[in-house]
Amino acid sequence: MSTSYAETPETEGAPVDKSAGSKVELQAVTKIYGDGPLAKLVVDECSAVLEPGKVTVMVGPSGCGKSSVAFLIAGYERATKGKILLDGKGVGGPSWDRLVVFQESALLPWLTTYENIMFGPKARGFDKKQMKQRAEELLERVGLREFRDKYPTQLSGGMQRRAELARALINDPKVMILDEPFRGLDHMTRGLMQEYFSSLLEETPRTTLFITTDIDEAIYLADRLLIMTCIPTKVRAVIEVDLPRPRGREEVLTDPRANKVKEQALELLHEEALKAFAGGSKAAADFVDAYMKRRGGE
Ligand SMILES: Nc1ncnc2c1ncn2[C@@H]1O[C@H](COP(=O)(O)OP(=O)(O)OP(=O)(O)O)[C@@H](O)[C@H]1O
Ligand SMILES: [Mg+2]
Repeated sequence: MSTSYAETPETEGAPVDKSAGSKVELQAVTKIYGDGPLAKLVVDECSAVLEPGKVTVMVGPSGCGKSSVAFLIAGYERATKGKILLDGKGVGGPSWDRLVVFQESALLPWLTTYENIMFGPKARGFDKKQMKQRAEELLERVGLREFRDKYPTQLSGGMQRRAELARALINDPKVMILDEPFRGLDHMTRGLMQEYFSSLLEETPRTTLFITTDIDEAIYLADRLLIMTCIPTKVRAVIEVDLPRPRGREEVLTDPRANKVKEQALELLHEEALKAFAGGSKAAADFVDAYMKRRGGE
């Protein structure tokens, strides 16, 4: 997670009602890594809107450029062309208002759970007493009160992800970006984490970009799905997931509306994965195989 927070003082776009959270707009964003003969076009004029207080889930083939889009929004990378606006203001470098939770644990191994959660507020020089109270509340909320003084290696995978969530949430970011945060967890823990995360969002709505390659996870969590093309990526389709909240995972899995969304999304993802496959990507071939097997089993 970032500790530096430069901003580009650039103001444009329509005024936004901030009561429901922040709005993020990507306007024809292009990212080329490197230059000359080594230049690689990864994001190609990608436009998208993350609505205030809503969960936007990005799904796309492996290696298509999803993390690159996340890094651009977070400010870890600069767009080669195009604009990224937060409430109408151009984003520059990393900032505490756009925090990323990665798949890999970013907890500091020499700090306890509590100290990890307090890392951001401490670095920012916030009032210690006030933040201590907030940290204790968050420990309770993420079910880690008993593990307050344990080190990351003493926590299970699921506990580490919850500690990561608390560590980000204490900074009260305007936008949360979660890049495959539950990848690598066993099936059962992953399901529990999805339910847990969904309840957190229902309790405190926040503009969220969640990245996953798991379509069931995507539909369960999303207000809106962004289906991404294969590399160089852009939004191929926007699908609204108009299911009531609070949501039960089993209910969603068997809901006919959710199944329709799933059909639609898989059709598009399949096409994109095949394109990537044609382009010779082993990862995309695995993706196609996995989906074909799953669909065959339905
Ligand atoms: N800093 C970088 N410099 C050069 N190329 C990069 C850089 N970061 C990513 N890439 C390339 O951009 C492409 C897209 O990578 P990215 O990680 O954004 O995809 P992804 O969809 O998140 O993949 P995955 O599904 O594996 O998480 C890859 O080919 C990768 O090698
Ligand atoms: Mg990625």
